[in-house]
Amino acid sequence: MERPTNQTTVPAHTAATWLQRWDAQQEFYIADREERFAVIADVVTHVVASVDHPVVVDLGCGPGSLAARLHERLPRATIIGVDADPLLLGLARTHYGDTIEWVDGDLAGSTWHHHLPPTIHAAVSTTALHWLSRHHVAELYRFLGTTLAPGGALVNGDHLGHDDQRMNTLGTHVRDQRAQRAGVRENEQWDTWWDAALADPELAELNRVRATRLATRAAADGTTTGDETADGHTHHGNGLSVEGHTRLLHAAGFGSVAPVWQVGDDHVLVAIR
Ligand SMILES: C[S@@+](CC[C@H](N)C(=O)[O-])C[C@H]1O[C@@H](n2cnc3c(N)ncnc32)[C@H](O)[C@@H]1O
Repeated sequence: MERPTNQTTVPAHTAATWLQRWDAQQEFYIADREERFAVIADVVTHVVASVDHPVVVDLGCGPGSLAARLHERLPRATIIGVDADPLLLGLARTHYGDTIEWVDGDLAGSTWHHHLPPTIHAAVSTTALHWLSRHHVAELYRFLGTTLAPGGALVNGDHLGHDDQRMNTLGTHVRDQRAQRAGVRENEQWDTWWDAALADPELAELNRVRATRLATRAAADGTTTGDETADGHTHHGNGLSVEGHTRLLHAAGFGSVAPVWQVGDDHVLVAIR
């Protein structure tokens, strides 16, 4: 029987160390990650300016970096982080505590939103929605298109290409040049972080919960855990371009959709209901 991640314990200093390593590791891929977070918070503060107690959901929150930045910028808001990875959620819970609500849910499933309040004013996400299949992205957008309060927004920061292949190539080049200038290419990378986290005895309990989760999911999907990389993730990119996301968002009922920030292929795409 899987144990809920909110009943597992990690020493506070251990969670802090892994969080620090996570942020540096993510910056290997997203040199302007903190600026991306700040831009997302700029959009959310604008969108909820007239709401007394806004509700903001971070989709695929991982260990909570964006949710925590939003809590700093919007201390009166209810921030809810949703993720399906018990290890990352366990680190988030330990480090950031209950200043943020953490929901253990699969965005590709049908029940994750049962834990949300009926009204949501903004949904945000960073480097996460490309993990979902196009079908599940479309489903998620349809859900948000009917659930977000009128005037509410989805704010998605991610590496997004374009339908035009030459623009794709250019976007990747600009991203790589920016990474060189920012000096993040010496940072730890994804696989090294996961290898070390999965081997840390202080994370053993969370890792056990996670292993059980992966085995259960693999059995339900009819796959083997060997279909995944060592960290248990499948890394399927859905390949949706800025234009592809925009089409799906309009189809889901969002009236205004456009990027508000871009560095190379790193975009913050905003859709307003
Ligand atoms: C690259 S990480 C980014 C995490 C965080 N947003 C950040 O920027 O640090 C991608 C996250 O998406 C989550 N994720 C992927 N597929 C998911 C799904 N179907 N349901 C919930 N979370 C998912 C992963 O567990 C992981 O935490």
